[in-house]
Amino acid sequence: MRVIETVSDMRGARRAMRSPVGLVPTMGALHGGHEALLARARDASATLVASLFVNPAQFGPGEDFQRYPRDREGDLAVFERHRVDAVFAPRVGEMYPEGEATRVDPGPIGRVLEGEHRPGHFLGVATVVAKLFAVILPDVAFFGEKDAQQLRVIRRMARDLLFGVEIVGVPTVREADGLAMSSRNRYLRGADRRAAAVLHRSLREALSLWEAGERDAEALRGRVRDTFAAAPLAELEYVSVADPDTLAELETVDRPALVSLAARVGGTRLIDNILLGGEGP
Ligand code: PAJ
Repeated sequence: MRVIETVSDMRGARRAMRSPVGLVPTMGALHGGHEALLARARDASATLVASLFVNPAQFGPGEDFQRYPRDREGDLAVFERHRVDAVFAPRVGEMYPEGEATRVDPGPIGRVLEGEHRPGHFLGVATVVAKLFAVILPDVAFFGEKDAQQLRVIRRMARDLLFGVEIVGVPTVREADGLAMSSRNRYLRGADRRAAAVLHRSLREALSLWEAGERDAEALRGRVRDTFAAAPLAELEYVSVADPDTLAELETVDRPALVSLAARVGGTRLIDNILLGGEGP
């Protein structure tokens, strides 16, 4: 496994790679969710590239960029175990050279939900993924359904900017109590960790209600709110029942719907989602 730290070395290595080249972008602090992406990508790729880069542009002021968990040695061992051929692990100055100013704006779907609560977040995500695509030139790239809006933003960006990269979505990997695996789960301790199970539990309850025939979107949102009201350590930031493609809020669930939410447990902000009907990622 090669570890590559500069854009110019990455471009050089790419020229010798066998196709199809698969890419798994990550910010490290790897867990079972990342491992599912790596396993899926290894199967589908002649050459597997992973990236390891904590992207400052997608963190807002006051967010956790500085204290985001970093474990380079542990992460490299996980990549090695999944038979990654090359890890692209640039420094910030490589990805954002002195004086850079360009941002990729994915448009309206980047401004609702997470985009509304984390202004500029998806400009940062779309920009760094566009840069990774421009340097690594993957044939196919793998993203988790756990970040459902991010997956949609990247699909749109790749299509709109004519990257010709196939985007594959991978189902969410969960802990035994349903909590979606996340690098930020490392912040959770004791009672907070136990309370965090309410995210997935509330989504399962909305799913059950929908399976029982409820089609009023506000009733489904209400069920999620009620479940959180009974869990004092967790604070719901928003819950959405939206069209899975446009992310526009629904009044009536007369088609597949994406139920998504963000919540705070202790000082930690967590997100999760579930699909009602439809095809999945
Ligand atoms: P990161 O949070 O490290 O996640 C990397 C990839 O793993 C993303 O595609 C994410 O959706 C996926 N992932 C995370 N938790 C998962 C889980 N429990 N099950 C399945 N997949 C999961 O997302 C990012 O980094 C960044 O925004 C990035 C795309 C790398 C751009 O900086």
